[in-house]
Amino acid sequence: MNGLKVGSRRLQDTMRILRRVECRWGQIHLPLSCRFMSQAKDPPLTADRYRVSRLPFSEVSMQDLRHFQKIMPGRVVTDEDDLKAHNIDWLRTVRGHSKVLLKPRTTEEVSKILEYCNDRGLAVTPQGGNTGLVGGSVPVFDEILISTALMDQVISFDDVSGALVCQAGCVLESLSQYLGERSYSMPLDLGAKGSCHIGGNLATNAGGLRLLRYGSLRGTVLGLEAVLPDGSILNCLNTLRKDNTGYDIKQLFIGSEGTLGIITALSVMCPRKPSAVNVALLGCEHFSKVLQVFTLCRDQLGEILSACEFMDSESMRMVQTHLKLTNPLPDNAFYVLVETSGCCGKHDEEKLNIFLEKAMNFGFVTSGTVATDQGKIMSLWALRERITEALAHDGYVYKYDLSMPLEKLYTLVEETRSRLGSSAQCVVGYGHLGDGNLHLNVTAKSHNDALLSALEPFVYEWTSKHSGSISAEHGLGFKKRDHIYYSKSRGAVHIMQQLKNMLDPKGIMNPYKTIPPAE
Ligand code: FAD
Ligand code: MLT
Ligand code: ZN
Repeated sequence: MNGLKVGSRRLQDTMRILRRVECRWGQIHLPLSCRFMSQAKDPPLTADRYRVSRLPFSEVSMQDLRHFQKIMPGRVVTDEDDLKAHNIDWLRTVRGHSKVLLKPRTTEEVSKILEYCNDRGLAVTPQGGNTGLVGGSVPVFDEILISTALMDQVISFDDVSGALVCQAGCVLESLSQYLGERSYSMPLDLGAKGSCHIGGNLATNAGGLRLLRYGSLRGTVLGLEAVLPDGSILNCLNTLRKDNTGYDIKQLFIGSEGTLGIITALSVMCPRKPSAVNVALLGCEHFSKVLQVFTLCRDQLGEILSACEFMDSESMRMVQTHLKLTNPLPDNAFYVLVETSGCCGKHDEEKLNIFLEKAMNFGFVTSGTVATDQGKIMSLWALRERITEALAHDGYVYKYDLSMPLEKLYTLVEETRSRLGSSAQCVVGYGHLGDGNLHLNVTAKSHNDALLSALEPFVYEWTSKHSGSISAEHGLGFKKRDHIYYSKSRGAVHIMQQLKNMLDPKGIMNPYKTIPPAE
């Protein structure tokens, strides 16, 4: 068990068997841009598939393009091939037809762009790494794309407080590397880390794999700078942990999905990099055992618990079939991935041993493996992190991102499976167990209206009935905007509409997304 002393003979035996099947584990990270190298057919235009009408925004003219060239010489992209990847979402389910992508480097350039677009009545779509899963990051029609790709500079890092200040276009993984070299880490991690931008993470209030440990970005983000639709620059970029002076305006922009302005810079509180990390993958026979494992790991691991994820056997089948990953355990109905992070390896090992012994002795888990070295840790994580990618290989993906009471989490997957029968190719459930966040995904050969009608509103009604949220962490974007009422009262949505109208009276910021129009 990679250096861990494990009291339970059963678990030790499992480990011995596992060592014999040491597998084809290797480097696991494929760039997410691979999604666009495939020869797959383009999805239909969003406007056609979803029957949306274009709002009366202006159309980009030659004169507009000349103006943008003056602001950003050489950074105005109009070539159709270059634009293609920016007009289609990562899931390849929505497609716009923007004619221009702007690549500002500075806040001042963003300010000039928005001021001009607002005056001209030109709609815009902010875009980070384009890894969003709700169709928010691509235009619906011909909105101007404003990419943060060149806004990728670290502005400052305080190695005493851990406050990092950077531009919005920094790629999450690059920030993790930058901090790792300074013995710090990002309080956020997700499968799209190689492509997503930190500004996009804030704009979606991304949750990810370590929310259980570090909490939401709403707590770790200390400040931000944003450009409002009229071009004015809002400076809330402070680096204080405590600041109770008036309303906390930055919170409005966290999770606003590009509908209120463009986040150009931010400061975030970073934790020290843990010096001891262990990951255990455990097999369970039943979902009730999964829940018992979660309760036990909270009890036994306490402050060193840094992630608790689950996946079902169908999710495991997906990563085995499409990505050729190897399951190191015998087949199980469910798998739980538990990660510990701390600063004292010996102490963490002792705690983990006690937890594993109890989990085995109580009959919560039937098999397990533990990794302490980086390569094997990454291989275990790949089984969970790469489910999204594996599903995308399986066909068209209907993706639901729900939070609900833990004891109900898997019942919805089972009910969906029996409801859909053979009309679905695959129904899987996985997610952030520690956060009560289920990812229910259904695949089919291609987009299919009958299947969609069987899924919606069923999934949303079910979730709402069980006091859940229809978007735990991905946001609403284009695809889920009109379902907001399943999770928010009319009164709350009304205030959102008023705020939107106050900050963006012409409605140029990411139209057709997130906030439904007033009735
Ligand atoms: P984009 O996709 O480019 O944009 C997302 C939204 O934010 C759009 O509405 C866009 O207009 C807006 N936006 C982008 N940048 C800005 C800005 N600077 N200012 C204002 N608005 C902006 N999400 C999770 O929450 N947890 C996960 O565990 C997770 N795992 C994922 C795994 C994979 C493999 C993939 C493909 C996606 C995953 N996601 C996850 C979804 C996605 O990665 C996140 O939503 C991420 O935060 C989006 O960042 P991005 O830079 O790609 O933003
Ligand atoms: C995840 O947790 O893997 C992400 O949120 C992506 C997904 O839901 O597939
Ligand atoms: Zn997730």
